Amino acid sequence: MARPLTATVDLNAILQNYRYAKKLQPTSKAFAVVKSNAYGHGAVKVAQHLDEEVDAFAVAAIEEALALREAEIKSPVMLLEGVFEAQEWALCEQHGFWAAIENEQQLAWLLESQAKVGKVFVKLDTGMHRLGTDELGAASMVEKLKESGLVDEVLLMTHFACADDLSDGATLEQLRFFEQVRRRIGGIEASVANSAAIMKWMIPEGGWIRPGIMLYGISPFAGISGEQLGLVPAMNLTSKVISVRQVKKGDKVGYGYSYEAQEDHDLATVAIGYGDGYPRHTQTGAPLTIDGQEASLVGRVSMDMITVKYRQNNQPLAIGQEVVIWGQGVPVEEVADYASSIGYELVTRMTSRPHYRYITETKPKS
Ligand SMILES: Cc1ncc(COP(=O)(O)O)c(C=O)c1O
Repeated sequence: MARPLTATVDLNAILQNYRYAKKLQPTSKAFAVVKSNAYGHGAVKVAQHLDEEVDAFAVAAIEEALALREAEIKSPVMLLEGVFEAQEWALCEQHGFWAAIENEQQLAWLLESQAKVGKVFVKLDTGMHRLGTDELGAASMVEKLKESGLVDEVLLMTHFACADDLSDGATLEQLRFFEQVRRRIGGIEASVANSAAIMKWMIPEGGWIRPGIMLYGISPFAGISGEQLGLVPAMNLTSKVISVRQVKKGDKVGYGYSYEAQEDHDLATVAIGYGDGYPRHTQTGAPLTIDGQEASLVGRVSMDMITVKYRQNNQPLAIGQEVVIWGQGVPVEEVADYASSIGYELVTRMTSRPHYRYITETKPKS
């Protein structure tokens, strides 16, 4: 027997969401962004399922790229932040990795190493001021890269600070500046769009899009779920009721007695906690379902358990009933709201403790 907490990942849902991203931007090629263990979904499993279809994968660092090659993933892999050490360029040549270059140091290391690289994406800082070089730096890097003869194709990339905010003009400003620089440099493909931009902003034709969160069926926008955007949620995180009791009005529950029942009700204890990645600061009221019936978190999240208020409708509460923590009928975006967080963080921070199960059905059956 085992602890019942299980993350069921539907690999076809991820493939379907990738196809959807490409349909939205039909002239572009698309990276499947699988950094941070494919946003908690399991990078190797996801990449194995998508390998034959994707144009390329994108990761944050070389160790993530090497893990894909060790798993015999054949597609090109792009390092979104580029290399952190000079020796990494040789590994890029050896394994067919592409990379961003966002500073002079990365460029100097490439020129010194004389490594041959398929594609390099010069990163222009269009306003976010996190990574990237300015206009003059970008123009000079592109020129030096072209002159070096080391790179098959040089592209220009940027990243948006506010693409998830549809009312914010900052994305348009970033785009305008990007296009101005791209015109001046001339004859260079673009890569600008994360999920939010792919779904809601007018981006340059062609080039490369970089869908991440949307592949997993999760929305980048506040107040809109992935399903509302036409995405298929890829993770169904389920557990079971492991203990049941009734509490009376005035009874207190859990560590710190932080919850006090305002009425008599049934209470379920469920096997999940912050040791699995469920945020400790998730507030009373966060949604769940028990055997398909609505229920809500009450009291403080423990390391291994949570307590759940259940309004008994037709079904009595019983040990062994299935609880959806997020996934089918319980959007992860809504749970994230109760943790003052975002869907991105909830899936990415999951630990290795839950059991991971991989299926290839778009509608997983329990
Ligand atoms: C450079 C870059 N491109 C694309 C993405 C994917 O973004 P999203 O998950 O919002 O689609 C990320 C993620 O943070 C990123 O850093």
